[in-house]
Amino acid sequence: MGKIIGIDLGTTTSEISYIENGEPKIIPDCFGNRIVPSVIGKKEDESIVVGQVAYNQLISSPDRTVSEVKRLMGTDARIPLGNKEYLPHEISGILLKELKNYAEAYLGDEVVEAVITVPANFNNSQRKLTKMAGELAGLKVERIINEPTAAAMAYGMNNSNKEEKILVFDLGGGTFDVSVLEIFEGILDVKSSRGNDKLGGKDFDGRIEKYIEEEFEITYELGLYENIDLDTVYSIRSRVKEAAIHAKKELSNQLSTTINIPFIRIIDNKPINISLELTREKFNKLTKDLVMSTTDKIKEVLKASNLKEKDIDTVVLAGGSSRIVAVKELVESMFPGKITSGINPDEAVALGAAIQAGLKNNQITDEETFIISDKCSYNLGTSIIKIGDGKVIDGCFDCIIPIDSTIPCSKKKTYYTAVDNQEEVRVEVYEGNEIMAEDNTKIGDFILSGVPEGKAGEQSIDIEFDYDLNGILEVKATVVSTGKSINKIIDNFRLIELPQDKLVDESINKAMHLNTWKNYNLGESVKDIIELAENKMNELDEELCEVLKNIVEKLKLAIIDEDKELVEKYDEALTDILFKLK
Ligand SMILES: Nc1ncnc2c1ncn2[C@@H]1O[C@H](COP(=O)(O)OP(=O)(O)OP(=O)(O)O)[C@@H](O)[C@H]1O
Ligand SMILES: [Mg+2]
Repeated sequence: MGKIIGIDLGTTTSEISYIENGEPKIIPDCFGNRIVPSVIGKKEDESIVVGQVAYNQLISSPDRTVSEVKRLMGTDARIPLGNKEYLPHEISGILLKELKNYAEAYLGDEVVEAVITVPANFNNSQRKLTKMAGELAGLKVERIINEPTAAAMAYGMNNSNKEEKILVFDLGGGTFDVSVLEIFEGILDVKSSRGNDKLGGKDFDGRIEKYIEEEFEITYELGLYENIDLDTVYSIRSRVKEAAIHAKKELSNQLSTTINIPFIRIIDNKPINISLELTREKFNKLTKDLVMSTTDKIKEVLKASNLKEKDIDTVVLAGGSSRIVAVKELVESMFPGKITSGINPDEAVALGAAIQAGLKNNQITDEETFIISDKCSYNLGTSIIKIGDGKVIDGCFDCIIPIDSTIPCSKKKTYYTAVDNQEEVRVEVYEGNEIMAEDNTKIGDFILSGVPEGKAGEQSIDIEFDYDLNGILEVKATVVSTGKSINKIIDNFRLIELPQDKLVDESINKAMHLNTWKNYNLGESVKDIIELAENKMNELDEELCEVLKNIVEKLKLAIIDEDKELVEKYDEALTDILFKLK
């Protein structure tokens, strides 16, 4: 039986963990490092390098190296790498594959499953894409869990008999999360989570980079990136970045540091070096707004949990950027004496993921730890027409699952037809907090057809939202009078745009792509015959099975391409062959 691991898939670094003798442990990479840079690169010969090796070529070959891809998750960015372009989750998939390799080498066993962590405020599609990245890496993603929840689990593992309220402050490389949790009677209850997936160490680095550029410009009356070719710009940028990160880390331990970048440019045939003093005081000034912006989220999460600062018993600091002195001081000033020192901020999230993995595999039991109840990070709802005070307002957001609902959860609401003889209903799914649907993020839509004739308001439609433990939503719409329904996992976003020639693992991606056919209207009329054909395949010999499989695939593709004619053609072909097989 293969093993299950926990993975903290970070913006800048990733960690892998597993359970050994009931305790979570970190798995090192092939160099013995407990922290793996989340960096992917390509060598000249197009071969892929990952982790520390890729990190090492960031400066020498920045144009062949990709980092911080987590920030692009859920966007349709195309990331150039070598002579190909990748989608963000494909890059993550390559990274996860390498982490899987490290784990297999270390454990001497096949690794088949994983629990992967994501920022608490990752939305539906970002979670789904993270899951897909795991699948691309050949991992069955047993569960997606929230990073701050995982960090709290690592703390709670040895403190499960306590009764206390915990605040997790997780400031990583690219994202910031803050959660309030409560441990009581063996339950780890997440009260609320808030975050900013656009705030992290990278932004602190950016401020120092800008400072270096400005100082250069003042000294030389010339932009650091002016009048030079693109290759040189690339390489200067990555050296400045490296120097900024180094200075930032030094300032976590000392009051002042010197930024040294030798031979940064040649001006008037003379090589120019940067040598710049940066004090912690100056760094604090450059980054004050970033640090202060975390307070709003802390206040928000406390308010949502109905708690005051003084009610918090323990603060768990997670994420490398929580080492920044001003950050620590701010948290300390809000929660004096409450920061626990027993947790390694780099490893907490990964260890928590391993605990979740261990719970799944019964390597640890609920009694040794706790039952976890996590919360949904968004309001989820649909778009409706509201009628009141003689006014009709179209496009109003109607919340079905409110933020902070305990997951998994399932909620149903009933709606009515808006016009006489309305034949179909478009169900639009949104996440967000705004009154008007269009001001929120649309995460999917589909049409439920076949509504029987009747006057406006005569036919009712039940809409049911099912939010699972991974934070992934399934929506079901049913015509109440006939029972006709449509089910949809909200996942039809960018998947269908995948360019076939750029896939990491074509067969997996193709299978996932084909699986989306149920989300399309044309699928409705042929779903029975597809089911019949798929059942039949089990009874057939290999050759006949291949024939049937081929037609079913073509039919599914036609559904996804919304090509009615082709759907009819393959539907007929399938009916014909099934009839003959009978
Ligand atoms: N001593 C230090 N002082 C300041 N910052 C540090 C220190 N050590 C690491 N960092 C910063 O911490 C960040 C990495 O933290 P971590 O590994 O927790 O983030 P991540 O998991 O990659 O990102 P995220 O959780 O946001 O996806 C980087 O920006 C790094 O520069
Ligand atoms: Mg992290």
